[in-house]
Amino acid sequence: MANIIQPLKHFTKFESITQGQKLIEQALIYKENPNLDKAKGAGKRIGCIFLNPSLRTRVSTQLAALNLGMDPIVLNMDKEGWALEMRDGAVMNLGTVEHIKDAAAVLGSYFDILAIRAFPSLTNKEEDRSDFIFSQFVKYSGIPVVSLESATRHPLQSLADQITIQENWSGKSKPKVVLTWGPHIKAIPHAVANSFSEWTLGMDHDLTITHPAGYELDEEFTRGATIEYDQSKALEDADFVYVKNWSAFNEYGKILSTDSSWMLTESHFQKASTAKVMHCLPVRRNLELSDEILDGSRSLVQQQAKNRIFAAQAVISDLLEQL
Ligand code: CP
Repeated sequence: MANIIQPLKHFTKFESITQGQKLIEQALIYKENPNLDKAKGAGKRIGCIFLNPSLRTRVSTQLAALNLGMDPIVLNMDKEGWALEMRDGAVMNLGTVEHIKDAAAVLGSYFDILAIRAFPSLTNKEEDRSDFIFSQFVKYSGIPVVSLESATRHPLQSLADQITIQENWSGKSKPKVVLTWGPHIKAIPHAVANSFSEWTLGMDHDLTITHPAGYELDEEFTRGATIEYDQSKALEDADFVYVKNWSAFNEYGKILSTDSSWMLTESHFQKASTAKVMHCLPVRRNLELSDEILDGSRSLVQQQAKNRIFAAQAVISDLLEQL
């Protein structure tokens, strides 16, 4: 019997290698011909709700929806919406003005698909791990939801990253993919690193993760990866090197190191001469990653950013199948 892949109900995480491959193939078709399905979303609306800042996710998701003939509406809920109460049963006699139960249900009645960005607090580990805020939108909106980055994952970024790896890999065997921690001065969420690990392992690539001691990620996302604390050893024979900062997970949200020797320069690639370098952007130049790498021929960062459009288009197109 043919292996039938069910259309997505929501898009919040990696589902399966077959689903991942299907989305990558569809995204590459849309990259060749963005207006192929211009009529597919006619008369449908997607609400893009941001509780945090964004450049790429905001614009690429709107472009993807427009390519499918949909009407996208963006709400910067952190700045333009009412202060939301997230806790069930709360007596709202403090700063919050509207309960998520009411706000999400209203949004669910206005749109056909809802897309949400909700970062972690980096102070309440268990609440962040459960994707509490994001899950409240899913629970109360009653319509398909796309993650524009939650507390734990950034699946549209990861899909774009996998598309980029596929476009740049013609080898017969699996590529060696390395996820390396890079220094930063702010406490940064784990979502991109978690999600990149989840998707890279899920797509059956060989993944090595390297970081200073104390920066171990949640094993839920990294099980199956090689953890190597020596960055130079990890980089040996690498085909793709993904650079990202994240704060500590065990000592939740803490900055344990800003060691600048972890910032990649050309000198780090003596044993990986053909390696390509990836980053989701935004990037702090010459802190997290050097000008030399970002502006050089190894860099895939602009290709990744462009692929965000087609990743989102493939996902939204799939979700439209069930409407
Ligand atoms: N990579 C990414 O999600 O970029 P933005 O935060 O600008 O959307």
